[in-house]
Amino acid sequence: MANAKRRLVVMGWVVMGGLLVSLTLSYVAGVPEQGAEGIYGHKCAVCHGKDGAAKTAKGKKVKAKDIRETINKMSEAEMIKIVEDGKGKDMDSFKKELGKDEIKALVEYYRGLAKT
Ligand code: HEC
Repeated sequence: MANAKRRLVVMGWVVMGGLLVSLTLSYVAGVPEQGAEGIYGHKCAVCHGKDGAAKTAKGKKVKAKDIRETINKMSEAEMIKIVEDGKGKDMDSFKKELGKDEIKALVEYYRGLAKT
C-alpha cells in the first residue's frame, strides 16, 4: 500500500517535471521569433511595411518614407537616435519598450530591407 502511494507521488513529479521541461523548451524556442524580424513585424511594419517601403495604409497616412530613399540620407547612428527618441508626431520613441541592442538590431534589419 505504502509502495503504491509512493509510486503515485513519483508519477506526479514526473508529470510535473515533464510539463516544466516542455514549457521551458517552448519558451526558449519562441525567443528567436522575437528577434529583429519578429519585433519589426509587430511594432514597425504597420507604418514602414514588411519590405520597408512604407506602402501600407498607415504608412501612407503618416507619410513614412521608403528605406531605399532614407538609407542614402541617414547614417545608422542617426536612425538609431530616431527610433530611441522618435521624430515628428507619428514616429514614436521606442526606448522605453526596447533595449539598446534591440534598437540597433532593428535598425540594421530595417536598413537591410533596402537591398530587397
Ligand atoms: C505609427 C507609424 C510608425 C511606426 C509604428 C514606426 N514608425 Fe518609424 N517612422 C514613422 C514616420 C512617419 C517616420 C518619418 C518621420 C519624419 O521623417 O518626419 C519614421 C521614421 C523612421 C526612421 C528614420 C528613417 C526613415 O526611414 O524615415 C527610422 C529608422 C524608423 N522610423 C524606424 C522605425 C522602427 C525600427 C520602428 C519599430 C520599432 C518604427 N519606425 C515604427 C512612422 C512609424
